[in-house]
Amino acid sequence: MGEVTVTNVTEYQAIAKQKLPKMIYDYYASGAEDEWTLQENREAFARILFRPRILIDVSKIDMTANVLGFKLSMPIMIAPSAMQKMAHPDGEYATARAASAAGTIMTLSSWATSSVEEVASTGPGIRFFQLYVYKNRKVVEQLVRRAEKAGFKAIALTVDTPRLGRREADIKNRFVLPPNLTLKNFEGLDLGKMDQANDSGLASYVAGQIDRTLSWKDVKWLQTITTLPILVKGVITGEDARLAVENGAAGIIVSNHGARQLDYVPATISALEEVVQGAAGRLPVFLDGGVRRGTDVFKALALGAAGVFIGRPVVFSLAAAGEAGVSNVLKMLKDEFELTMALSGCSSLADITRNHVVTEAEKLGVMPSRL
Ligand code: FNR
Repeated sequence: MGEVTVTNVTEYQAIAKQKLPKMIYDYYASGAEDEWTLQENREAFARILFRPRILIDVSKIDMTANVLGFKLSMPIMIAPSAMQKMAHPDGEYATARAASAAGTIMTLSSWATSSVEEVASTGPGIRFFQLYVYKNRKVVEQLVRRAEKAGFKAIALTVDTPRLGRREADIKNRFVLPPNLTLKNFEGLDLGKMDQANDSGLASYVAGQIDRTLSWKDVKWLQTITTLPILVKGVITGEDARLAVENGAAGIIVSNHGARQLDYVPATISALEEVVQGAAGRLPVFLDGGVRRGTDVFKALALGAAGVFIGRPVVFSLAAAGEAGVSNVLKMLKDEFELTMALSGCSSLADITRNHVVTEAEKLGVMPSRL
């Protein structure tokens, strides 16, 4: 990787910024409107403090996690992020290989620049497929079947994007998928290219193709076209967590789409407990948004998450160093998480409890004291 040793996940962002054309870097980095939620996704983690326990044997740390019945090396997985070949020519192939080598799950975006079949061809690995529901349901049915056939193990249904959030950098840059690339899953369906627009080409694409009528009945419909478990990605309230349970979801991903959709929603780590309570133990709750440290992973698990996903660190490390970069991100997070467990007195995920952290709400006396 050259002269400077990368010692944490965040450092890849500056390297990516140097390497990538501005339009592409901005697409990866930006959030919606004022980017308040973007900042808050990080800051909210920083307001949660630890209550470590001492004098506990931590000579052996077991980080293995069970996600929908699959055994992973750690509770850290890869979120779907679109168009990874803009970051590096190996794109989604590199991400798939790095995830599989690390013993964890990659979620492939609907808008990947490699198809479900191409990603499957990289070799074995547990993979989820992220689904955007198009107005043309035949397209959706076909795509879900292809993902299933290619060996993907779950569908992450993104529910926070009836329209694209207002990402001002993309509007200024007139963001568009570079003409040498295609949204590979839609090649041959005449939906693989993105037209240049007067604002964000992606926002126009979404306005043209994505179904704004999407509702809970479609979550039921999806269950009639696939036997794969469905994770509802983009829940941030307890009410919707209850509805996800009622409508047959297999899991929930607490996500604000990396702060790229509705600005001024809370950080996901702040919304997590409410969602966990709404789910009432009836399905697993995962989280993404702002996870950059092993300490963040621990905090999410202490507040009830069954695992976390990372988004931007993947595209930034991919831009910096391809597959090796993504592998390094996964390794750094794993090592940091292991150290956090040891220093908190936890030798397995089951040892991590609500009492290992203290939140802002508790410090302010908003929540009843535990003691
Ligand atoms: C995303 N995200 C996303 N989500 C989704 O459901 N489908 C997609 O195609 C994409 N594409 C995408 C591209 C880029 C560049 C980013 C940064 C994000 C959202 C993603 O899955 C995840 O929710 C967030 O990225 C998590 O936040 P962090 O880790 O980026 O802070």
